[in-house]
Amino acid sequence: MAEMNEFMSSNVVKDFTKDIQQYNLGPLWEAIPEVMNHTPKPQAIPYLWSSELIEKKLMEAAEIFTPERGGERRAIYFQNPGLTYRKPWGWVSTTQSLYAAVQLLLPGEEAPSHRHTQSALRFITDGDGAYTIVEGERVYMQEGDFLITPKNLWHGHGHPGDKPMIWMDALDIPTIYGIGGTFFEPYEEGLQQPNVPDNFSELRYSGGMVRPVGDDKFSVAPLANYKWSRTEDAIKGLMNFDPDSINGFAIEYINPTTGKSANPTMGTRMQFLPKDFHTKAIRHTHSTIYHAFKGSGYTVINGVRFDWKKGDYFVIPNWAWYEHFPAEDSYLFSVNDIPIMERFELEKEEKMESNNGYQKVTGEFKADFR
Ligand SMILES: [Fe+2]
Repeated sequence: MAEMNEFMSSNVVKDFTKDIQQYNLGPLWEAIPEVMNHTPKPQAIPYLWSSELIEKKLMEAAEIFTPERGGERRAIYFQNPGLTYRKPWGWVSTTQSLYAAVQLLLPGEEAPSHRHTQSALRFITDGDGAYTIVEGERVYMQEGDFLITPKNLWHGHGHPGDKPMIWMDALDIPTIYGIGGTFFEPYEEGLQQPNVPDNFSELRYSGGMVRPVGDDKFSVAPLANYKWSRTEDAIKGLMNFDPDSINGFAIEYINPTTGKSANPTMGTRMQFLPKDFHTKAIRHTHSTIYHAFKGSGYTVINGVRFDWKKGDYFVIPNWAWYEHFPAEDSYLFSVNDIPIMERFELEKEEKMESNNGYQKVTGEFKADFR
């Protein structure tokens, strides 16, 4: 072995390694340890963006920018500092595979319709009164609502209300860009107009635990809006029993025609963590983007403590250890890439066995610019 290591670092190997690269050829003997690592080593890093920063920058953007054709949306995305090397625009990556952003729509504004091969979802964090029109269905949005726009559906927004609306967007842009599957099409007439009654799918699915007869065939978006009141009720039902040691009281948004994730490429959850309920540490193949919807607390990610409060966003990269500790009753909304991992049969998890299932805290997160 020692002889082999010596040979691999000899000038014969070094010179040849250098030689082939000038012909756009690559030495696998050098690359293997770095690109075929034993466990996932994402370049995305754990990170947190505070509500103050997000709000300040959105309000500044409102002074400068309107969501007209050309710019399309007043959205500011969460660029993972570990993925800025991706060109162009860090591939707008919050994790290896997912994009997340905050979007602001002011009263009286319209964002034109378009469609694309990326799937999108929205979680309403502030305000009400705005609507989205997805494939001809106008849906009014309120705080806590979760909406989906799977790939290739026309969608645009309008705001007849009187307060600014802010929501979280998440899309699979880095995945689709990375595999070369991007198509984008603007709707020529600006904002597509409704062609069914308002809140059509929400009304059709008023029952919650039932579906309309005839909806047993697959449909990509049978339900456009998952209302906060229903999500809250579902979680309250779980609270009659003990919380899960990893997730607390958590629900997953699903497509009622399949029982699978509401969006084909992204999983979405809402979880309630009661005050002082310290979840056990786990790591898994998929990555997760969190929005602290209500409450405050901290999450330990790979030994580093990330303090969060209402309105903050933070990211847990692939295969990073994490555990939550809520300082008060808290709701966390999260987006993950489980459906992508499952399609490749790569989803895997490991629970921490040592130290009673908790990490040792070795540091605290501070954003560079503070
Ligand atoms: Fe879009």
